[in-house]
Amino acid sequence: MTVAPSRSLRSSAELISAEEPVLAHNYHPLPVVVARAEGAWVEDVEGRRYLDMLAGYSALNFGHRHPALIEAAHRQLDQLTLTSRAFHNDRLAGFAESLAALTGLDMVLPMNTGAEAVESAVKVARKWAYEVKGVPADRATIIVAADNFHGRTTTIVSFSTDESARSGFGPFTPGFRVVPYNDLAALEAAIDETTAAVLIEPIQGEAGVVIPDDGYLRGVRELTTRAGCLFIADEIQSGLGRTGRTLAVEHEDVVPDVVLLGKALGGGIVPVSAVVARREVLGVLRPGEHGSTFGGNPLAAAVGSAMVELLETGEFQRRAQEAGVLLRDGLAALVGKGVRGFRARGLWAGVDIDPAIGTGREISESLMREGILVKDTHGSTIRLAPPLTITDEDLRGALSTLEEVLRKGA
Ligand SMILES: Cc1ncc(COP(=O)(O)O)c(C=O)c1O
Repeated sequence: MTVAPSRSLRSSAELISAEEPVLAHNYHPLPVVVARAEGAWVEDVEGRRYLDMLAGYSALNFGHRHPALIEAAHRQLDQLTLTSRAFHNDRLAGFAESLAALTGLDMVLPMNTGAEAVESAVKVARKWAYEVKGVPADRATIIVAADNFHGRTTTIVSFSTDESARSGFGPFTPGFRVVPYNDLAALEAAIDETTAAVLIEPIQGEAGVVIPDDGYLRGVRELTTRAGCLFIADEIQSGLGRTGRTLAVEHEDVVPDVVLLGKALGGGIVPVSAVVARREVLGVLRPGEHGSTFGGNPLAAAVGSAMVELLETGEFQRRAQEAGVLLRDGLAALVGKGVRGFRARGLWAGVDIDPAIGTGREISESLMREGILVKDTHGSTIRLAPPLTITDEDLRGALSTLEEVLRKGA
């Protein structure tokens, strides 16, 4: 009789091949198997160390296992983990109060994943359009931007413009209009009396960290206010300190009607998302009309509250600004040396690699071999989004490794 090796004793290569027959192939991960992590650093099964320059697509804004977040989770694990919303739990009120205060809005609808927050906002905006705005039944429309990324559910991919996200998944949910991003004239022309909401990312993350012109977010606010429809900002990737502000909309002093949060809201420990909105908007929901078994669970609320406390200090936003200058300067020095161009705000950058040097994937693999983890997007772009806790020294190290990899070529 042969005995399968103990799981923990399997090598990275063995674990990667073990995944192949039993895991759906909906991802194409870099060939690294992470087993432990602390701060900005992760370690693989063989003990090799890597600097995490992706930070779980911003879910790890505070780094891996931030002590305050881990402590909050441990404390809560010893008290109460789940009640469902059939009962109240003693952690949820405080979480909602602190999140509303942090965003300057009134009410919170807690969910779990980012896509669920987006789905929930779509439902709430439609209901608001019928009950408050007076749009005729089933005629509400929501305007979105081309090249958006809001998640993977059937309704959300219905308004994606990325064929690989949509192909084979129809029929699609109607009621969405797509306009070019960063184009206020197109947005104005698309808005009519059926418009419930305009849903946009203040910075398009998956599209390659695409930053709109100054004035675009203010323009969206003005147009939506004038037309009497909602401005929904999807801050699931851009929010919670990443850009040097609590929310990316703050760069233009804009307050949307609805803010969607996720990723870092769960401190990199548990999936936590939320729709945060004005009372008039979330007030349309009545018992039985929407819900989630895990949404607002005490463990999520405890970690979420600890996360809000970290952001309340302002320390992480400041750090993203300061280290962001280092990142921007470092990338600027690489333009013409393998980098064609880049877009950066705070500790977040999309870097377009010269295709003559290699694809984004090839550069990501070369960086991995040198101990730096990043993720490519759209062929020739790599995304940098290190934990906001990264030291200057580690960030400088990552930039010089990138310079080296570009010099050598993929
Ligand atoms: C802006 C934005 N919205 C929504 C989502 C979906 O979040 P989740 O993967 O948690 O469903 C993402 C994920 O990358 C995102 O970047």
